[in-house]
Amino acid sequence: AAQDASAGERSFAKCRACHQIGEGARNLVGPELNGLIGRHSGAVEGYSYSAANKNSGLTWDEATFAEYIKDPRTKIPGTKMIFAGIKSEKEIKDLTAFLKQFDKD
Ligand code: HEM
Repeated sequence: AAQDASAGERSFAKCRACHQIGEGARNLVGPELNGLIGRHSGAVEGYSYSAANKNSGLTWDEATFAEYIKDPRTKIPGTKMIFAGIKSEKEIKDLTAFLKQFDKD
């Protein structure tokens, strides 16, 4: 398959130290990620974003998310998300398929 959400779920283990997703997801080190694809950057109520993230002007669609997660600090200079990124295009596609399963709550 082009996108494999269950492989994406395994990949999301890299994010879980800082992000929750799914029913009851709360903000931790990073914002909760429900409804990510389609929302504006910096939009989660009650989460204290960096100015860089809040004001990036990005909408998270598949293309902007893919660029961001490959190298967060190149896409959003000054972000406080300290994460090296995911380099594999296949892994990014799978991760995106996983994220898209969770609508805004
Ligand atoms: C922000 C995804 C890993 C900490 C974000 C945003 C996305 C994202 C899309 C922007 C959210 C928005 O604008 O509402 C991911 C994914 C990860 C991952 C998919 C795994 C592949 C991590 C890790 C950490 C982390 C491991 C902590 C070490 C943060 C923080 C922010 C953030 C602190 C807020 C950035 C800011 O305000 O500048 N993440 N993240 N993330 N993430 Fe992650």
